[in-house]
Amino acid sequence: MLSANIVALAYLVASVLIILALKGLSSPESSRRGNTFGMVGLVIAVVITLQLSSVQNYTWIFIAIAVGALIGGVAARKIPMTHMPQTVAFMHSLVGLAAVLIAVSAFANPVGYGIADTFGQMHVSSRIELFLGAFIGAITFTASLIAFGKLHGSLSGRPVTFSGQHILNLILGILMIGAGVMFCIDLTWTPFLAMLFVAMLLGVLLIIPIGGADMPVIVSMLNSYSGWAAAGIGFTLGNNMLIVAGALVGSSGAILSYIMCKAMNRSLFHVLLGGFGNHAPVATGGAALEARPFKSGSAEDAAFLLKNARSVVIVPGYGLAVARAQHALKEVVDKLLEQDIQVKFAIHPVAGRMPGHMNVLLAEADVPYDIVHEMDEINPEFGDTDVVLVIGANDVTNPAAKTDPTSPIYGMPILDVSKAAHVLVIKRSLSVGYAGLDNDLFYMDKTMMIFDDAKKACESLIHVLD
Ligand code: TAP
Repeated sequence: MLSANIVALAYLVASVLIILALKGLSSPESSRRGNTFGMVGLVIAVVITLQLSSVQNYTWIFIAIAVGALIGGVAARKIPMTHMPQTVAFMHSLVGLAAVLIAVSAFANPVGYGIADTFGQMHVSSRIELFLGAFIGAITFTASLIAFGKLHGSLSGRPVTFSGQHILNLILGILMIGAGVMFCIDLTWTPFLAMLFVAMLLGVLLIIPIGGADMPVIVSMLNSYSGWAAAGIGFTLGNNMLIVAGALVGSSGAILSYIMCKAMNRSLFHVLLGGFGNHAPVATGGAALEARPFKSGSAEDAAFLLKNARSVVIVPGYGLAVARAQHALKEVVDKLLEQDIQVKFAIHPVAGRMPGHMNVLLAEADVPYDIVHEMDEINPEFGDTDVVLVIGANDVTNPAAKTDPTSPIYGMPILDVSKAAHVLVIKRSLSVGYAGLDNDLFYMDKTMMIFDDAKKACESLIHVLD
């Protein structure tokens, strides 16, 4: 068994590695290194924890690790990148459930967890920690399950609202805290279980009013909650590593939610209260879409414009991921570069279905990092761009975000593609994107629609660009 000092030192090293992991993950260039730091840090944390004197029986732990590793390994190989947001939401629900189960187990056996005095009375600080960890875990558990259902399509993505919703949530919040306070005083199961039940109900009610376009922020917020739940349980278990790792996840998730809200010009407060989601997306489908005039062309027409351009900016979106067109698109880029055409990528912070989605796809296809630009960097350049090639993107280019105060995405910063001389849009139809909105860009004089699957369209372009 290792001495307390060695354990503390190892935990410190693991904590620093996890901080370096977060730092590395903040940029595509350093993300692989960041992942490695994170993996090494977690292995150190797990190995050191396993040899603590409080760990007495390895059989169940190793069975759990083997089963978890098997399920995780198979899931990681099978789940497509486009299903990652719901997978992440599901994993957050497991963190919340783990926090609840540990809290139940610690309350059932406080002496075994070392959180009671010699007479078996739980310390006051431990009661409060248990209360906090348990209710944050319970909210995270059910809220993440609802987020999973909405993102996976098993539940409707539309906001569910009813009158008095906020008042009901407030009453439930007060009831939950009241039951928690009673638990801290009485130490009996009834208020403890009542608190968990109300927290789980609150988790459901907090997520149902949140609609489509706000889901990314919610997933990131739930990430933050799961971190705080883990940190709370770290206090119960007296484990510094869990406290540090939980607090890092909690704070980085909160910062990411803030950054995403800023990128969408939303107030975090309103998103959390279902304010933005309350505006149900207006799916202007079918006849209304077809009624407006637009220009469409073939791969040959698109190639003609591209070949005659000096500068091309490519705007990828969710459709690129669905079609798995990134490798074909890279070949299109190579062809353009061979012809001395300047090519850049423009990445919107919420393009795709998860933060960094487009960056991951482009890195997978070996697109050089130095031609991939974030929205703020590239937006001033659209005015000097000859051709913008929008591929499988929709909402992130929708001018209504700037021009239509009634639009649910009004105020969200967009890529200013309409400032370029020509716009080519590759998608299969005039259908709406995630927010369910028609896009004026498709009907502009300077826009040519290429109706095709993104991968097939790129393969045709490779052929005709020769
Ligand atoms: P969207 O607005 O969702 O548009 C994607 C477009 O891709 C669709 O209009 C669809 O049109 C087209 N498409 C689908 N499959 C295709 C295929 N095989 N080939 C070619 N095109 C295809 O995507 P976006 O512009 O990337 O915007 C992202 C949206 O998702 C935003 O509203 C954002 O708020 C939301 N969101 C983002 C995240 C994060 S964190 N990134 C998470 C959840 C939600 P067709 O059907 O006509 O082909």
